[in-house]
Amino acid sequence: MEGLDGCGKSTQLTMLAAQLRGQGYAVLETREPGGTAAGLAIRELVMSASPGALSPLTELTLMFAARVQHIDEVILPALGRGELVLCDRYADSTVAYQGYGHGIALETIGTLERLLCQGVRPGLTLLLDIDAPTSIQRTGARNRQASQPHTRFEQEGLEFFERVRRGYREIARQEPERVRVLDATVSIDELQVAVRRAVKEFLKGSY
Ligand code: TYD
Repeated sequence: MEGLDGCGKSTQLTMLAAQLRGQGYAVLETREPGGTAAGLAIRELVMSASPGALSPLTELTLMFAARVQHIDEVILPALGRGELVLCDRYADSTVAYQGYGHGIALETIGTLERLLCQGVRPGLTLLLDIDAPTSIQRTGARNRQASQPHTRFEQEGLEFFERVRRGYREIARQEPERVRVLDATVSIDELQVAVRRAVKEFLKGSY
């Protein structure tokens, strides 16, 4: 599952996981950056960095380092056990945030993915699409409620998030079979209906 900050991905993913488990599927729920001890340490390093403290290429390689560990330690073993892997963010986030957001050449990101990710790609990606102003407003409200400071990417401005959204929509345009775009401005329950519908269709075709 992918989307701009503040689109409610983690709530949707957890609701989906519970529903699929209720239907008898073995489900692994995981996230990036994170998902492993090393990935969490990398997440902490990146998220707590002030803007400019990490060069864009450093940030890119850290995202890939977390992903490689995640693939080896968590994703491939779960797939080997026949589990459905639900991941909150994956390589499309790197294209959208580091590529479109921070201006790293898409070719560089594609090359690293081919070299490092062992062909592990999602069969279905749900893009929870939200406009940049709403994303910024929701993230601000969430952080104020939790008395949390803004993390690394949340300190970026409107233009950054506009570019990231454009990146996601471009990925969806190029890979319409894999990426389903869902309107994330609707209520939590309405969005969950759309999420379940898309996953049901996908599972009908593949499981
Ligand atoms: P996440 O915890 O999913 O943020 P939220 O739940 O608030 O949307 O992701 C953390 C941040 O990391 C998010 O701002 C996007 C960013 N990110 C990248 O920039 N590149 C990546 O490859 C990944 C996986 C995440």
